[in-house]
Amino acid sequence: MKNLRDIALKGKRVLVRVDFNVPMDDAGAITDDNRIVAAIPTIDYIVAQGGKVILCSHMGRPKGQRLEKLSLKLVADYLAKLLSKPVAFVSDCVGAEVEAKVAALTDGAILLLENLRFHKEETDNDPAFSAQLAKLCDIYVNDAFAASHRAHASVVGVAALTAERVPGFLLQKEIDYFNQSMTNPARPLVALLGGAKVSSKLGALQNMLEKVDRMIIGGAMANTFLKSAGVEVGASKVEDDLRDAARDLLAKAAAKGVAVFLPVDFVAASAFAPDAVTKIVTTKDMPKDWMALDIGPASVLLFKEALQDAKTIVWNGPMGAFEMDAFARGTMALCQAVAASHALSITGGGDSNAAVKKAGEEKNISYMSTGGGAFLELMEGKTLPGLTALD
Ligand code: 3PG
Repeated sequence: MKNLRDIALKGKRVLVRVDFNVPMDDAGAITDDNRIVAAIPTIDYIVAQGGKVILCSHMGRPKGQRLEKLSLKLVADYLAKLLSKPVAFVSDCVGAEVEAKVAALTDGAILLLENLRFHKEETDNDPAFSAQLAKLCDIYVNDAFAASHRAHASVVGVAALTAERVPGFLLQKEIDYFNQSMTNPARPLVALLGGAKVSSKLGALQNMLEKVDRMIIGGAMANTFLKSAGVEVGASKVEDDLRDAARDLLAKAAAKGVAVFLPVDFVAASAFAPDAVTKIVTTKDMPKDWMALDIGPASVLLFKEALQDAKTIVWNGPMGAFEMDAFARGTMALCQAVAASHALSITGGGDSNAAVKKAGEEKNISYMSTGGGAFLELMEGKTLPGLTALD
C-alpha cells in the first residue's frame, strides 16, 4: 500500500481523519488520551515535512445535531499541550469559515475541525458533504483505525474524491499488528475472549475458530456456552436464543481439534452490586438465585495454563464485571498472565484496554489497539471500508 512517506508534503494541505472519540468525564476532562497520543507520529511527520495539517474527527453520536458537550474544542487544547505547539480550532468542519481558515494555514501549521457528526451527512456518506471535505485538501490521510469500519463521508466518501489517499502511521501499525497476530501468527495462537454478550461477538468467535489453536471464553458470555452444555449457571445472564449457536460452535471446535476453555468456577454474587455478598462456587454447585460475576480461582489457573506456551495471544473482552473491584480479580489475573507471557500479545476494545490500565500492565502488552468495533470487525474476518478506500 502506498504510504505517507511516498508523498511530497511540503506546502500541501493534508486532511487527516483521526479518531479523537475519547472518553470525557462530566467536568469535560479527557479520561483516556490513548487515541490522541497514538495520532501524534503522523501529525509530527506532516509538520516536519512542511505540510499543512487539517485534522478531522467525530466525537460521540450527535446524529447531525450540534451538541456543545461533544465539541472537539477541548481536544484541540489538549493536543496543543501534548505537542507543545499551537493547534487552531474552527467551529465547523465544512463551509466558508473553514475554507478561509484552511487557506490561511502556513506550512507546518495544525488546524482541528469541529465534530464531523454535527452534520448528519457525515454518517450518511453524503457525496456533496464529501466534496466539501475534499475541497479542503490536496492529500487525504486516514489515521482513524477505530472508525475505519464506518463507511462515512470522512472515511470513505472523501477518499474517492482526493487524488492522493494514504494510511497514516497509526492505521498502518494497527494493520501490521493484526496481520502478525491473525494472518501469519507464531503458534500456538490463543484467543482470550470475554465480555457480556455472545450476540456481539458471535461473528468474531466463528472466524477466530478457523485460525486459533486454543480459545478461552470467560465473562458473562461464557454462561451461554456453559448452559448450552447443560451446566447450571443460576441467575447469571444467559442469551437463551444463542444457546444453539454456542453448542454448534463447541461442536465445531471439537471436530477441528481446537481446545475451548470455559470457566470451571465463579465468583458468585447475590446481586449485581459492588457490595453484594459473594462466594466462590464451582460450576457444579451454583445456587439458583446467584449470578456469576467473575471467573473463580480454579478457572484462573486453568486459563493461565492454556496461555502458558502461547506464542501469540489475541485478547478481547474482560472475564467479569471488573469495573467493580469485588469482581476484578479474574480479569486482573489474566491480564497479568498475558503481560508476563513471552507471546506477541494484542488487546482490543475499550474494556480490555481499561483492564490493562487498571492492572498497570500497559508497558507489558505488545500492542493495545485503539479500535473497538473496528478491531472486532477484523476479528470477524471483515474488510474495513476505510482501508479499501485508500490507494
Ligand atoms: C469507537 O469508539 O469505536 C469509534 O470511535 C467509532 O465510534 P462509533 O461506534 O460511534 O462509530
